Amino acid sequence: MSLDHTPTELETLSELPLPAADELVERFPLTPNPAPASDAVHEEVMSNPGFGKAFTDHMAHMVWTLEEGWHGREVLPFANLSLSPAASVLHYGQEVFEGIKAYRHEDGSVWTFRPGYNAARINHSSWRLAMPAIDHEDFVASLAAYVRADERWVPSGEGASLYLRPFVVATEPFLGVRSAHRFDYYVIGSPSGPYFKGGPKGVSIEVVRGFHRAGPGGTGSAKCGGNYAASLLPQMEACERGFDQVCFLDTYEEKYLEELGGMNVFVVMSDGSVRTPQLSGTILQGGTRSAICRLMRDRGVDVREERIAVDDLVAGVESGAVAEVFACGTAAVVTPIARLAGQDFDVRLPVGDRTLEILHAVTDIQMGRAEDPYGWTYRIL
Ligand code: COI
Repeated sequence: MSLDHTPTELETLSELPLPAADELVERFPLTPNPAPASDAVHEEVMSNPGFGKAFTDHMAHMVWTLEEGWHGREVLPFANLSLSPAASVLHYGQEVFEGIKAYRHEDGSVWTFRPGYNAARINHSSWRLAMPAIDHEDFVASLAAYVRADERWVPSGEGASLYLRPFVVATEPFLGVRSAHRFDYYVIGSPSGPYFKGGPKGVSIEVVRGFHRAGPGGTGSAKCGGNYAASLLPQMEACERGFDQVCFLDTYEEKYLEELGGMNVFVVMSDGSVRTPQLSGTILQGGTRSAICRLMRDRGVDVREERIAVDDLVAGVESGAVAEVFACGTAAVVTPIARLAGQDFDVRLPVGDRTLEILHAVTDIQMGRAEDPYGWTYRIL
């Protein structure tokens, strides 16, 4: 059993203590939106939030310049941005982002999940794209101040949350190829339900050959727009063939599972052990992935972070050695994979007990239904 695990750098940084939201929010003073969404519009959105379609009344913002570093912290009305057509992000894609959620607990309080992990990860992404780091407390302050301003947009109920999208873009108007001298950071939010309509019934995944998301030394472990742009063509083609998502293989051998278009992947063996592709530098260090590994290890499950050959996986499904496969991420949470297909295989999988156990283990902590011995939940309001 491989129960030992050396925490990753992001996991270690995510443990840095954070002040309470009350102490942080004043860093981002609020200018209220004079024309917020009407009650009717709000009600319509909240009754069927979907994913990433509707946005709230405010956004958090700060700016970085060479001379002053990060400054101008504020929460202001949600509005279109005014950007020079020469802004470097529009030409060279210098951009990073995060995905994190605000959850309403049954008593009405509002919480988020491991914000320190996302703070550490946005800085890892920024490091790779030669962008300035953000102070962890500023990052969490921006989330808390923004969510407090838009509290009415935090839905309640199973599977519902306010999806938060912090991001940094290079806004210096300059066409030379170098890191920009000005960046803008924003937090926007979108009331959301499940990412996949298939939900607990399971989704279908096409294993792609010929297209890769990332290579060694590239930006695969950074959460940057370019990685997602690279996934869109195979994703679109897979959709045309009736699949929900794609799974990428390693660049050199096209043999080992990497990750899906926007989420990590796990395999549950029939002996109860759990496997997930190792953090090779080309995949995203998912916060949900990290939480699942920790939760399962602490329940005595043998969790292996290792290379998973697609041929072995398919053979395992056919022989019964593989019991379940699921995807995970902030948006996807834990989503069973019901069909896995590629050039020369097409296998079906059940929505199994281990996947549902993991889904509940994660969401029970996020929703305040289970004890949180890890200090992962952070109260916003
Ligand atoms: C997330 O899970 O938060 C993601 O960023 C994935 C996707 C929606 C891009």
